Amino acid sequence: MAALPSGTDAPVDISPAADLDAETLARLFTAGYEGYWFHIELDAVAFSRMATVSDADLTLSRVASVDGEPVAIVLLARRGSEGWVGGMGVAAPHRRRGIGRAVLTNTLEAARDAGIERVTLEVLEQNHPARELYEGLGFEHVRDLEVWSLPNGPGEPREVDAARAHAWLRARREDPEPWQRDDASVAHLEEVRGLMVDSAAALVRIAGGRVGVLQLAGQPDALRELLTGARALGESLVVVNLPAGHPASAILEALGGSLDGRQHELELRFS
Ligand SMILES: CC(C)(COP(=O)(O)OP(=O)(O)OC[C@H]1O[C@@H](n2cnc3c(N)ncnc32)[C@H](O)[C@@H]1OP(=O)(O)O)[C@@H](O)C(=O)NCCC(=O)NCCS
Repeated sequence: MAALPSGTDAPVDISPAADLDAETLARLFTAGYEGYWFHIELDAVAFSRMATVSDADLTLSRVASVDGEPVAIVLLARRGSEGWVGGMGVAAPHRRRGIGRAVLTNTLEAARDAGIERVTLEVLEQNHPARELYEGLGFEHVRDLEVWSLPNGPGEPREVDAARAHAWLRARREDPEPWQRDDASVAHLEEVRGLMVDSAAALVRIAGGRVGVLQLAGQPDALRELLTGARALGESLVVVNLPAGHPASAILEALGGSLDGRQHELELRFS
C-alpha cells in the first residue's frame, strides 16, 4: 500500500500498468480524462498504438486502485535516460484525495530507479490542477508549445521522398522536437510523407482528411510556400506542439490559421 497524505479516506494500491490488459488501461485512461478540455476516448487498439508510438514502458507506468478498482493511471514513456509522461488522469470521483500525487510520485521513483535522468511532459496552460501538481513535485518550465490549425486552401504540395526531407530536417533542426514528433516517434509511424521547397522541408501524415505536420524547418519564405502546399493535401492542417516563436507561427497566422491551444513543456531532472 502506498502512503497517502492525511485526509485520504481509502487505502490506495499502486502497481505497474503492465499488470493490466490494454482494454482495461484504455478504459482507465478515458475515465481519467473525463471533463478535460477536449474529448479523449481510447479503445484497446488506439491505446496500444499510442503506447507504441511514444515508446511507453508499461513496467514503469503506474496504476492506482481503490478497493481493487483501477482509478488512476500515469503513462511513462522511455528513450534511454529520458522519460516522458504521456498522459495521466484520475477518475473524476476520486480526484482531490491525493491519488494523483501518489501515483505520479511512485512513477517518478520507478523511473529514477530504472536509470532515467530527466522526465518531461506537456500540460495545457489552462490546466491549473495539473500544473499545480507538477510544479509541487519540482517540475520546471522549459518552453511554451502551440497547437495550430489551418483550413484547406489552394497550394501546390511539393512531395519528395520522406527520407530525404527527414535528412534535411535532421541536419538543420536547432531545437529538440517535442516527444510525440521526435525522430523516434516518427520511426514508428506509417505513411509519413516528405515535402520540400528550396530551403524548407516538412514531414506530414494524413489521417481522416487532416494533414498532421510532424516536423518542419526552413527559411520563412520557403516555409510559407511549404505550408501553403501542405494545406492543399487535406481538409485541414494541424501542427501540434510547435515551439512558441518558431517562424512557422507567424506564417500560419498570416495564412488564416488559428492558435487552438498552448501547452507548457516541463521537466524534472533527477541529478
Ligand atoms: C490533474 C489531476 C491528475 C490531479 O489528480 P488528483 O488526484 O485530483 O490530485 P491530488 O489530489 O493528488 O492533488 C495533488 C496536488 O495537485 C494540485 N491540484 C489537484 N487538483 C487541483 C485543483 N482542482 N485545483 C488546484 N490544484 C489542484 C494541488 O497542488 C494538489 O495539492 P494539495 O492537495 O496539497 O493542494 C486530476 O485533476 C485529473 O485527472 N485531471 C484530468 C486529466 C488531466 O488533466 N491530466 C493531466 C494532463 S497533463
